Amino acid sequence: MDFDLDKLAAELQKEVWAQFSEVVIDHANNPRNVGSIENPDGYASITGQCGDNMQIWVKIVDGVVGEVTFWTDGCGPTIAAGSMVTEMAKGRTIKEALALSPRDVLEALGGLPEEHVHCAFLAVNTLHEAIKNYFKKRELEQRGWVRG
Ligand code: FES
Repeated sequence: MDFDLDKLAAELQKEVWAQFSEVVIDHANNPRNVGSIENPDGYASITGQCGDNMQIWVKIVDGVVGEVTFWTDGCGPTIAAGSMVTEMAKGRTIKEALALSPRDVLEALGGLPEEHVHCAFLAVNTLHEAIKNYFKKRELEQRGWVRG
């Protein structure tokens, strides 16, 4: 009997991806807004309880999220969540971006299996921390403690 390892790997991969929506697969394979921003207005790096790290950089222009990028060493769903949260935050006011919730990201992704719901939390928490870092930096600049 022939044993085709490539075929088996392809079938297993197909099975794994079958639990994810088209949107998740698209964002995991073609993530948007990947990378860092030079001289960002806000930045955050969070490592989730699963050990995966996400980093987000933001540029704020007139109270609006002008540019936002991410990086993660996490799994496919984490990449999809980072990609989606950056897409959703771009062009929103700071208040709107802070109001984005893991549920919003999960809905936009078409859902995630239970064991990957925390990937959406990691992405949203990192976005919120990056925006909070912007406020912290701005406050320090206003006090003249650091240069803008
Ligand atoms: Fe931990 Fe995706 S498995 S963030």
